[in-house]
Amino acid sequence: MSYSIAIDGPAGAGKSTIAKLIAKKKGYIYVDTGAMYRAMALFFTESGISAAEQDKISAAAQDADVTISYENGEQIVWLNGRNVNGLIRTEAVGNMASESSKNKDVRQKLVELQRALAGKENVVMDGRDIGTCVLPDANVKVYLTADSHVRALRRYKELQAKGQPCDLETIEKDIVDRDYQDMHRDISPLRQAQDAVLLDSSDMTIEEVAQAIIGLCDGAQEA
Ligand code: DC
Repeated sequence: MSYSIAIDGPAGAGKSTIAKLIAKKKGYIYVDTGAMYRAMALFFTESGISAAEQDKISAAAQDADVTISYENGEQIVWLNGRNVNGLIRTEAVGNMASESSKNKDVRQKLVELQRALAGKENVVMDGRDIGTCVLPDANVKVYLTADSHVRALRRYKELQAKGQPCDLETIEKDIVDRDYQDMHRDISPLRQAQDAVLLDSSDMTIEEVAQAIIGLCDGAQEA
């Protein structure tokens, strides 16, 4: 039986940084499910479909083949045979991903792929519905959050370091809006699974959060 660690939480809580670090420390595969929703969103945008056109999104979802592979431990997302890693990290794609991830056909397709991956490998999987829907029997479940101002500030510093112009207030508003949308959709909304451990990283370092989760894994193995 493969081992799985599920990390859910709102945008910018540090899920992917932490999940990657834990995957490296434990020798597991890191599965970034947000990247899959982003690849789908890119496909819809490139096909000229807007967020409001849910019927078109359902139909087009059947033509979007999203797969992932790994190169030197990095997840590569393929959209219809094209490596789209360099195209999916924009705010516009993130916002479209939040919109199109409300769609049941999109979710069904990606959840199947995510379960198949976790069935054959030990995984650290992060997203919005991993503990509640994708892997309800995950060995360890974490709900990772942080104050929205702290999350916005982290994002702001990241963008500043890359030399990209940005505004802290706009970033925080985007984060709060996206959380609201992800928490209030009909299918698999973002919420803490009943058996997930809540970690608030507002005043914790990356290493402290990673150690806390590894501690949970050790506890789960002994139980
Ligand atoms: O984690 P992220 O910012 O890359 O995710 C982009 C969007 O994809 C997010 O706003 C909601 C959606 N998503 C989802 O609905 N379910 C997941 N498991 C992962 C992401």
